[in-house]
Amino acid sequence: MEYRTAGESHGQTMVTIVTGVPAGVVVTQEALDADLARRQRGYGRGGRMAIETDRAAVLAGVRCGVTTGAPVAIGVVNRDWENWTDVMAPFGEASTRARLTTPRPGHADLPGMLKTSTCDARDVLERASARETAARVAAGGIARALLAQAGVQVFSWVERIGEATCGRIDSARVETALVEGSDVRCPDPQAAAAMRAAIDVARESGESLGGVFAVAAAGVVPGIGGYADAVLRLDGRLAAAIMSVPAIKAVEIGDGLGSAALPGSAVHDPIVYAPGEGYSRTTNHAGGIEGGMSNGETIVLRASMKPIPTLMRPLRTVDVETHEPADASKERSDVCAVPAAAVVAEAEVAVVLADAYCRKFGCDSMVDLLGALSAYRERIAR
Ligand SMILES: Cc1cc2nc3c(=O)[nH]c(=O)nc-3n(C[C@H](O)[C@H](O)[C@H](O)COP(=O)(O)O)c2cc1C
Repeated sequence: MEYRTAGESHGQTMVTIVTGVPAGVVVTQEALDADLARRQRGYGRGGRMAIETDRAAVLAGVRCGVTTGAPVAIGVVNRDWENWTDVMAPFGEASTRARLTTPRPGHADLPGMLKTSTCDARDVLERASARETAARVAAGGIARALLAQAGVQVFSWVERIGEATCGRIDSARVETALVEGSDVRCPDPQAAAAMRAAIDVARESGESLGGVFAVAAAGVVPGIGGYADAVLRLDGRLAAAIMSVPAIKAVEIGDGLGSAALPGSAVHDPIVYAPGEGYSRTTNHAGGIEGGMSNGETIVLRASMKPIPTLMRPLRTVDVETHEPADASKERSDVCAVPAAAVVAEAEVAVVLADAYCRKFGCDSMVDLLGALSAYRERIAR
C-alpha cells in the first residue's frame, strides 16, 4: 500500500490516491473526518485553520463503506481557494500576478526556486506548504482502518514544545482520552499549561516553536518488516516516512539516542515465554523493533520538529530580483504545529505498517489477510 498526493495550499483541492488497498477494508466517513479534524486542531495554529473545516470526499475505491480493491482516491477541498482564485487560477496571464521574491530561511522557497528556475517563491511554497499533510492524513485513514481490523492501534502524544516538557512518557501509561482532550496533545496537564504559555510568549514576540512528539503502534505482531533486504527494514521505512513530514529533523526508535551511552545489559530487552501466548519482553527499550522487524512489543518512535520557518518578525534574506538584502516574506502562519505534526506522523506510520501487513499476509482481500494473520498468530504462540 502506498499513496501519492497532489494539490497546492491555496489550490482548489488536496488529493490523494492510495494504491495497494485490499478489498474489504471497512471505512467510515466519520473516522476519516475525525482524523482530519485532529490534524487541524492544536494551540498555536494560524488563521488558516479557522477558515478550513476539512472533510474527506471519497472519490473512488470505496463502495457501501468497504474498499473494493481498486485505488482509493480522496479529495480535501481548500475553502480558502475562493480567496485565492486571482493568484492560483491554473490559467491566465502571469504578468498580472504579484510575485514573492523574498525567500524565507528554513522553508523550501530558495532551494525550490533555484531548482525549478522560477523567480516567484509562490510556485514552490504552494506545494511545499504543510497544507499537503491534510491529504496524507486522509490516506492514513485508509491504512488505520485496515490496521484496526488487524488489531493494531496507532496513537501519538506531545512531550515537548520549546522549553516546556513533560519528559518521556511510557507508551503503556499514555491515556489517549487525555491526549485527545488536550489542545497540545500532552496528557500531563501541568506540562500542557506550560506548553500553551510558551506558545503565547512566542506569538507575542513574533517567534515560532518546535518540539518533540511520540507515535506508538500497539498490537503489531512480531515479524513485520524484514531483515533480509535493506529496503524492507521496518525501522528504516518508519524513520523515512516520519522524516518526510515537513519540519521533522530527527527520529528516534525506542531509547534511541540515549542507548548510545548505556551498556548492552541496560539496553536489550530480556525474552520470556508463556505457553499459549508465546514470546514477549520484560522491557521495551528497543521500541518494538529488532533486526528491522517488529518484535511484538509496542512500536515507539519519537520525532523532533524544528520551529516553524515563517516568522512574523522575519529574518533577513535576499530579494532574488534585485539581489538586495530584504526581510523574508510573511504568509499567514502557525506559531507552533507540533500537535498537528504528531497526527500527520500517525498517518505515515499507519501507511508503512499497513503496507508491511499486506506484504506479509496478502494484499488482495481482508478475508485472506485476516485468515493468514490468525494462522500466524496461532503458530507463533505455540
Ligand atoms: C502540520 C504542519 C504545519 C506547518 N505549518 C507551517 C506554517 O504555518 N508555516 C510555515 O512556515 N511552516 C509550517 N510548517 C513547516 C514547513 O512546512 C516546513 O518547515 C517547510 O516545508 C520546509 O521543510 P523542512 O522544514 O522539512 O526543511 C508546518 C509543518 C507541519 C508538519
